[in-house]
Amino acid sequence: MQSRWWQQAVVYQIYPRSFMDSDGDGIGDLPGILARLDYLQWLGVDVLWLCPIFRSPNDDNGYDISDYCAIMAEFGTMDDFDRLLADAHRRGMRVILDLVINHTSDEHPWFIESRSSRENPKRDWYFWRDGGDRGSPPNNWESIFRGPAWTYDAATGQWYLHLFTRRQPDLNWDNAALRAAVSDMMRWWLDKGVDGFRIDAITHLKKAPGLPDMPNPQGLAQVPAYPFHMNVDGILDYIDELCTTTLAGRDVMTVGEANGIGPGGAEEWVGATRGRLSMVLQFEHWHLWSNAPRAPLDVRTLKRILGRWQTALRGRGWNALYLENHDLPRVVSRWGEPQRWRVQSATALATMYFLMEGTPFIYQGQELGLPNAEFASLDEFQDTYAHNRIAEMRAKGLTDDAILDEMRHTGRDTSRTPMPWDDGPHAGFTAGRPWLPAHQDFRDLNVVRQQGDRHSVLNYYRALIELRKREPVLLHGRYRTLAGRSTKLYAYTRGDGDDAIAVICNLSGEPATYRHAGFTLDRTRLLLANHDVPPHGPLTALTLRAWEARVYRIGTTSPA
Ligand code: GLC
Repeated sequence: MQSRWWQQAVVYQIYPRSFMDSDGDGIGDLPGILARLDYLQWLGVDVLWLCPIFRSPNDDNGYDISDYCAIMAEFGTMDDFDRLLADAHRRGMRVILDLVINHTSDEHPWFIESRSSRENPKRDWYFWRDGGDRGSPPNNWESIFRGPAWTYDAATGQWYLHLFTRRQPDLNWDNAALRAAVSDMMRWWLDKGVDGFRIDAITHLKKAPGLPDMPNPQGLAQVPAYPFHMNVDGILDYIDELCTTTLAGRDVMTVGEANGIGPGGAEEWVGATRGRLSMVLQFEHWHLWSNAPRAPLDVRTLKRILGRWQTALRGRGWNALYLENHDLPRVVSRWGEPQRWRVQSATALATMYFLMEGTPFIYQGQELGLPNAEFASLDEFQDTYAHNRIAEMRAKGLTDDAILDEMRHTGRDTSRTPMPWDDGPHAGFTAGRPWLPAHQDFRDLNVVRQQGDRHSVLNYYRALIELRKREPVLLHGRYRTLAGRSTKLYAYTRGDGDDAIAVICNLSGEPATYRHAGFTLDRTRLLLANHDVPPHGPLTALTLRAWEARVYRIGTTSPA
């Protein structure tokens, strides 16, 4: 089967602010990334996804862009970017940019013009509305980051819409001139040679016509309004136009951040015959955690969710595979056992998702098996969303201790601390004072140390990447769930003709027995394991230790 370069790739997500600081200001930068390309090449990744690097006042760490065609001052210059892109390309790596086009910064010239008068030609590039009686906002929508989704602007006596912070006004995609300006900007970057985009919050681009109030039976001040601003009917028309005017005929990778898309609707977005996006980052397994952040991993539900995505897109589209990103706490802390079984649970979870059909993504530090960064006090949280949540919890009367406990489990800063490179000051990240403190475990869990340890999470990820590239069946082989009813095991095969591989992971801290009569598992065909496996002859059953994962080549794809 023919495959595209981005189907064969492993993506590494860089949060530039925290990756590597080259000039001692405590903030990561582009020359810092350039200096670490050797590491990324050693690891074996092919595509670098850079979280936003555009000029920004950093209300939301770059997800509030004030100039799409300039580099954030703290990160360096356009020359630095050109050098980084050229060096990555020279090494055979690709670079995709994180593009925020649902909203801009309130410091973007478009918004400054738009807010300057009701008659300004760019007025309609954003959502401006009159308020209700008694000074209330135009509707009752809640911002995704809490509080009202509207801010009043005294200069013109109207309100503007922002689904995120008030410093991130939403662009009005109904306006054709705005859409054309976004396309121009994207083409400018593609002409420069970038290899594609991760498109932020893409399912929010369209808002329900008339911006109607949400039903509000509980009489809340604001109501979450997802049905009216997420995956709203007609949104695909915008995507089609964007693809035709901007992406058509270019060999690029596009990844949509796609809250609200399920496996049933995904083909519309990423179907091979639709000509839209390469893949989407879906949220269903994320919600499995966020709906019950303290609950242990529900392995059966996870299998159901990921299995449906595998099946729905089989031969029709392509999956993005991920467990972590900059908006989520670390997966070892969410679903693993960081105290008792850190290495084992990090590597078992890695094995589970990495060998499915799709393109695997690794978020910086995930390959070290980092648990959540621990914050000593609420003052240390830097994230704008964290600030809103803290204020909201205080208003509800929660104590600071209770809030700190909550934020340590669920805050986004928990996965944003500086990348631990070595055991020197500030983990080798900066010669200055880092914008967030170094991870508490950096002396043990750093790159240098893990490179030298055969049993480290880092070397395991490297082996996983190598295995994925070596075995063609892992690219296009059909995914089949095994042991679907087990509450501990996540197991599946990937099969293609006579060749098949079984991936068997115990996602629990207790032993778990895998029984299967359809094929045998032989030690001589063991491809990868996260525990030592003694020699064994052909087995049809096996008992896995706590958080044990094994990958075997098997002889048949037809389980009995
Ligand atoms: C996306 C980003 C997140 C950001 C938000 C607003 O969800 O991943 O970090 O805060 O969009 O741009």
